[in-house]
Amino acid sequence: GKDGYRHYMEKELHEHPLVIGQTLQRMIDPATRKVVLPDMPCDLATIPRGVITACGSAYFAGMVGRYWLEEIARLPIDIDVASELRYRNPPLTPGSLGMLISQSGETADTLAALRALKGIGLPVLSVLNAEHSTMARESDVVLGTVAGPEISVASTKAFTAQLTVMACLTIAIARARGTIDAAREDELVTALLDLPGRAEEVFSRQADIRKMAEVVAEARDVLYLGRGSVYPVAMEGALKLKEISYIHAEAYAAGEMKHGPISLIDRTVPIVATIPSGALFEKTLSNLQEAKARGGRLLAFTDEAGAGRLSAIAEQTIALPKVHPFVTPIIQTIGVQILAYETALLKGTDVDQPRNLAKSVTVE
Ligand code: F6R
Repeated sequence: GKDGYRHYMEKELHEHPLVIGQTLQRMIDPATRKVVLPDMPCDLATIPRGVITACGSAYFAGMVGRYWLEEIARLPIDIDVASELRYRNPPLTPGSLGMLISQSGETADTLAALRALKGIGLPVLSVLNAEHSTMARESDVVLGTVAGPEISVASTKAFTAQLTVMACLTIAIARARGTIDAAREDELVTALLDLPGRAEEVFSRQADIRKMAEVVAEARDVLYLGRGSVYPVAMEGALKLKEISYIHAEAYAAGEMKHGPISLIDRTVPIVATIPSGALFEKTLSNLQEAKARGGRLLAFTDEAGAGRLSAIAEQTIALPKVHPFVTPIIQTIGVQILAYETALLKGTDVDQPRNLAKSVTVE
């Protein structure tokens, strides 16, 4: 049942802290505080590249994974949505590690991409919530997201669990490749172990996010902007808004705005920014200032440190709990998902069963 929540989506949003914690318990040995992987079909120290594929939200989890794996583990990543990868016949480097991400383990395009990767002889690691699925059976190794059943058609907790697994996988690959030392590894593990508590704190901002939703619910079109590892989070926010509120939303890398979408900006097109404090803060801030100068209404997800700087230009600012920069995509995700949920409530849509969508897309 819904345990007193109005929708499965609301219940599942509230399960973020639990699910992140359970997934970490599966991947991190509490005694050594090291990420422990099952036996791998290849030597992580010597793989030349990784190739990531998935559909929908799971693809955005893969995009965050690419930022992490390239920056922290220095592993070059090819990434594509499964419906493209399966027909593109790309010249993949022999010995590359294939990585698939799927909640259901049954998505037709992702399964076909799995078979295509195996067909050219690549080892395949799958990040799956359904551990008894077709993809689980056909993969060389499975990393489970411990999210439990997800009933809401729009994915919430499975997505943060996918990010949690990709973060752990990044640490393990970085260790194998010698791109992080023990102190850095411990710093990253500590950042992850801190997350369930911080994720819980996000819900104390729900009333403020509801006020933001009042602006979004009035709009016909919404722009989402983010840079770096929170750019895919902007994409996730835009997809979730489209899915459950039927409001048109698009996400852009903040630096791309001036190359086209800036022409859309006026009072009627609110801009939702994922902008945590840190290395890219100033860059994104200057993009937002450009949008503001053109009459844009800015709604920002940041943290305490960023809120001070944003208050001068943003109409509404949510200060999410402060976390290590590594894990900001996970905490930011919870914010944008709650925004989509609150907006859908205001629109009065069927939150758990949005029109035209199925939970598991088993046809091409
Ligand atoms: C978004 C959503 C979809 C799925 C996509 C992949 O809220 O639910 O975009 O993420 O259909 O599904 P799985 O993960 O089952 O392969």
